[in-house]
Amino acid sequence: MSQRTLVLLKPDAVRRGLIGEIVGRIESKADWRITAMELRTLDRSTLEQHYAEHQGRPFYEPLVEFMASGPSVALVVEGERVIEGVRTLAGPTDPIQAAPGTIRGDYGTIVRENLIHASDSAESAEREMKIFFPGLV
Ligand code: TYD
Ligand code: MG
Repeated sequence: MSQRTLVLLKPDAVRRGLIGEIVGRIESKADWRITAMELRTLDRSTLEQHYAEHQGRPFYEPLVEFMASGPSVALVVEGERVIEGVRTLAGPTDPIQAAPGTIRGDYGTIVRENLIHASDSAESAEREMKIFFPGLV
């Protein structure tokens, strides 16, 4: 089942020089390919759309501030079961709960600075891809 997903390499990943490492893990998976990719500092309005489901939660404001603190890489990845697959590569939200071998488990300690975002469903993927790549069909 071929799918598309929206992935963000967050400002901590870019700042720490982990773009190549993380993109490499994604590229290594059979049948997956990157079909859009951009390095950009995300503005508040983009982040408010992206994290709309979390508005009002205690971590929301610091999360938006962190996400606007430097450049991120936005990617669209296509391929076999890629929505679940990238979330498996990323590991659980809390890096301390994430197993070694996952991106968050290998590189993260702080929940907010957990390196990577990946869409959690086909509906989220469609919604999020339009936010970051409005020209995409
Ligand atoms: P969420 O969508 O729950 O996690 P995921 O990125 O794994 O889909 O939360 C979005 C982001 O918000 C999460 O990646 C990091 C941040 N966050 C916090 O800073 N504190 C928290 O307690 C939670 C749940 C998330
Ligand atoms: Mg989420």
